[in-house]
Amino acid sequence: MFRAILTSRLQAAFTAARIELPESFTPNVVIASDTRYGDYQSNAAMVLAKQLKANPRALAQQIVDQLDVADLCEKTSIDGPGFLNFTLSADALAKRLSQIVLDDKAGVPVVEKPKTIVVDFSAPNIAKPMHVGHIRSTFIGDSLARVARFIGHKVITDNHVGDWGTQFGMIIHGWKTQLDHAALKKDAIHELVSMYKAVNAAAKADEAVMETCKSELVKLQQGNAQNLDIWKECVRLTLEQLEKVYRTLGITFDHYLGESFYNEALAPLVADMLEKGIATISDGATVVFSDGSVKPENDPFLIKEKDEWKAAPCIIRKGDGGFLYATTDLATIDYRVKEWKADEIWYVVGAPQQLHFRQVFATAQRRGVTTIMTHIAFGSILGPDGKMFKTRSGETVGLLEVIDEAIERARTAAEEKDQGLSDTEKDEIARIIGTGAVKYAELSQNRLTDYKFSWDKMLSLQGNTAPYLLNAYVRTRSIFRKLEGAVTLTDDLTITEPAERALALKLAQFAENTHDILDDHRPNLLANYLYELANTYHSFYEACPVLRAEGAVKNTRLTLCEATSRVLKTGLGLLGIQTTERM
Ligand code: ARG
Repeated sequence: MFRAILTSRLQAAFTAARIELPESFTPNVVIASDTRYGDYQSNAAMVLAKQLKANPRALAQQIVDQLDVADLCEKTSIDGPGFLNFTLSADALAKRLSQIVLDDKAGVPVVEKPKTIVVDFSAPNIAKPMHVGHIRSTFIGDSLARVARFIGHKVITDNHVGDWGTQFGMIIHGWKTQLDHAALKKDAIHELVSMYKAVNAAAKADEAVMETCKSELVKLQQGNAQNLDIWKECVRLTLEQLEKVYRTLGITFDHYLGESFYNEALAPLVADMLEKGIATISDGATVVFSDGSVKPENDPFLIKEKDEWKAAPCIIRKGDGGFLYATTDLATIDYRVKEWKADEIWYVVGAPQQLHFRQVFATAQRRGVTTIMTHIAFGSILGPDGKMFKTRSGETVGLLEVIDEAIERARTAAEEKDQGLSDTEKDEIARIIGTGAVKYAELSQNRLTDYKFSWDKMLSLQGNTAPYLLNAYVRTRSIFRKLEGAVTLTDDLTITEPAERALALKLAQFAENTHDILDDHRPNLLANYLYELANTYHSFYEACPVLRAEGAVKNTRLTLCEATSRVLKTGLGLLGIQTTERM
């Protein structure tokens, strides 16, 4: 990775120049945003000069005098107030290019210290409608898990499904009185959700129904065999259908430890917290109050009301003895730390649950947990009109509906463009393009902002879309199909044309980009990188004939095509998007 090498060379130059570095200081090298001065840039001399009260340009000169980058750079310059700029040599780029085509990670290095990271994502609730939040969580979580694994971490994915909760009182009552067996067989999730909605409405209108639902719930919680069987069947049917969707999406989980898995652990956990004085009894409930260790502004157990800080405790057991979402999450943390030795846990869950996670993390820390816990939040998805996102039939959208519709639309497009493909081929291409389009529309967005969902835009062959990138990939492959005989790429490379150089540089930066994604858990950095790569490739392709070239020039251009093809495939793969050889 050029950035890492340049950083360590800079560090060595500081030492050689006998410049004493403050303890917290590491020279910072970045990919230059303005490439007129160089490919990489560092503000190290300026930052340091400020700390040492020295002249930045003079300091920069001292560093450059000692800098040994002859094997990498054709030029190093000091620009503006003291920026250090590095221009890579054609040789260094060519070397890097041949590494990319030889390496099965396309030149992306693995981390020096791998961690065990648990990624908690998707997590829909059984018998409750799946909403857009679950769509975002599923795609972002899957992509982050892939990236972390790719760069060498030990990743454990866990689908913490909401398979226990008050909804089961209604579901069991509905199951016993109005279950439509045929509908259940056809589409279990849909039938369970509409049953839940119907019973919920009935219970709201009729106190007696509400009471029956409550008593069904109590029976379930007390271990009544019939109710347990119904509950188990609901979970089984839902997971079976969900797994089918995940399969279509190419998403897998190492575990499906839903909320119910932790039932037995909840009472002892609450008892332990009371014993340790972390929790107290307040109005009959067991709660966690602020311990006053942080400023009120940063305290998740306080809330400001009319200029006054009031207690906003985290409830872990209700007065009636019931446990809560937070209790389960605390037990889940214990399990992940103890059984899986998690160094980090990532929760890919919508922004509305921010307070919940702040309270749970703070409580876990008070219980001695040192694992790094991160809430990777995201905003909502809006319809093209900027309002709540609905399907064609006007219902709120869940993952299943979106995926079905995306594949159907991609299939129609494949049909219109008929290129003599068989039906099976068209089905497979429609699945890849349909699921890829939805995933990419999500992953190319900044996760914290709301985004507008537009079928036309995401399925378009133009612009920052999956079809555009998949098409760029197909174009790289078609060159190799047109070549006669097998190609053996040699390391006889000569990078001379500006368009060749630009592409080689972009390809080399796949490594930095991939590592940067995890700094702030942002797959959109990768999506945007791939889009820029595809554009750089198109410019190269316009400027530099490949098949008509000869000798080292042809070899270089073919190697550029091959490397582009690999980086596109690998990068899209990290977004969870499969590639296709034709479309
Ligand atoms: N089932 C929850 C929901 O739909 C999400 C669970 C997220 N994970 C967790 N450990 N709390 O809102």
